[in-house]
Amino acid sequence: MKIAVLGTGYVGLSTGVCLSEIGHSVCCIDVDEAKINRLRQGLSPIYEPGLEDLLVKNTALGRLHFTTSHKEAIETADIIIIAVGTPQGDDGAADLSYLVQAAKDLSAHMKPNTIVVIKSTVPVGTNDYVKCIIEEHTNTPFKMVSNPEFLRQGSAVKDTMKADRIVIGSQDKEAALKIQEMYRPLGVPILLTNVRSAEMIKYASNAFLATKISFINEISNLCEAVGANIIDVADGMGRDNRIGAAFLQAGIGYGGSCFPKDVKALLHTADSYGISFDLLKNTISINESQKILLYQKACKVLGSLKNKKIALLGLSFKPETDDMREAPSINIAHLLRGAEAQVVAYDPVATENAKKVLGNTIEYASSIEEAIDNADALFLVTEWQKFKQLDLVKVTQQMKQPLIFDGRNCFSEEKVRACPRIEYYPIGKPAIITGKDEIN
Ligand code: UGA
Repeated sequence: MKIAVLGTGYVGLSTGVCLSEIGHSVCCIDVDEAKINRLRQGLSPIYEPGLEDLLVKNTALGRLHFTTSHKEAIETADIIIIAVGTPQGDDGAADLSYLVQAAKDLSAHMKPNTIVVIKSTVPVGTNDYVKCIIEEHTNTPFKMVSNPEFLRQGSAVKDTMKADRIVIGSQDKEAALKIQEMYRPLGVPILLTNVRSAEMIKYASNAFLATKISFINEISNLCEAVGANIIDVADGMGRDNRIGAAFLQAGIGYGGSCFPKDVKALLHTADSYGISFDLLKNTISINESQKILLYQKACKVLGSLKNKKIALLGLSFKPETDDMREAPSINIAHLLRGAEAQVVAYDPVATENAKKVLGNTIEYASSIEEAIDNADALFLVTEWQKFKQLDLVKVTQQMKQPLIFDGRNCFSEEKVRACPRIEYYPIGKPAIITGKDEIN
């Protein structure tokens, strides 16, 4: 099938690349000329494991193309997939301006009976709205399909190629079956629904997962208070198939370009229908509190943070990505700077993006050693594999004070206890202090 993909962000690019991998002829469109030029050279604009290899492979096979010309990609396409961003607007609702522009752009060039697929995350009712916009701009007949995306950053290729399910929402049976056919080579379960249900499945899924995280974070706070251990508690809960083990990792709150925005957008939808979705309000407020937890713990232990060197390990909102959107590291850095601490951060891939957000308010180290050298405390912010493998004995020896605030529970009790001198504060578990007399 000939497919045009509008937008080369995480979703658009991963989708385009994966659809070419299963044999389709795909042309990805973006207005950013520099980005398209890089993509043509086989360079991925985002850090995403496995993506660049498939990009190079399928470009070489002639199945994957990139262009800035809507006309070139759209006039021959059987299927047009819209995957532009829907960022959060000022009022919490999703900003649909890129989507509206995409609808106008494609209506000028599409051939009759093209299937227009909306993959961008859009509030319930948006597919109908976009359909109206296209109809206002062309008399060419077309069909609409809602096909929300469930891939995660950091595992986008795997999540697309081995999806738990694909949701296809359409009022038009023939169009739905054609999109089902497009995905058939993946061999994953496909669910056919109406358009509004498909739109709702996406928001309900993200809001549920965000709520699951806030729930486990709240339980972890309770665990700290009562002396329980969140790792055992989450394990015990997760073994119940009705609950499931995924997304029960307590930490310093969810971030990224999806959960924070989508939870707020769903709340906004509920409000506009007169439904007070209090559960979601609590999900958001628990998450906000969780982001400042490490800072609060450090204040409690250290008193004043003024002129204290704090090493931040990890800046991206989660491992395996360079994305800084809504990363808890931003809140933490601001709080630490507000307290006049010296903040030195290290991240394996997100430093350049972090500089765009945090500028020179903090210092950026080029190695873990540089960040922790002579530090008064270490904040473990993102659970990169290389941080989990750290030799804690060496780390604590290099620091001025062996104080670690672990926001992602990266280290086992055994590993921590093996340190002759450490003061270790994890999430939802008792603190571990060894060699206390020597710590000041
Ligand atoms: C999320 C969803 O997981 C995807 O299914 C969805 O397609 C995507 O949003 C989207 O709407 O585009 P993503 O934002 O890439 O994917 O990242 P996740 O892996 O879901 O993590 C989100 C946040 O939750 C991260 O900050 C992570 O650290 C946090 N998290 C996750 C926890 O704190 N605990 C957990 O147990 C799991």
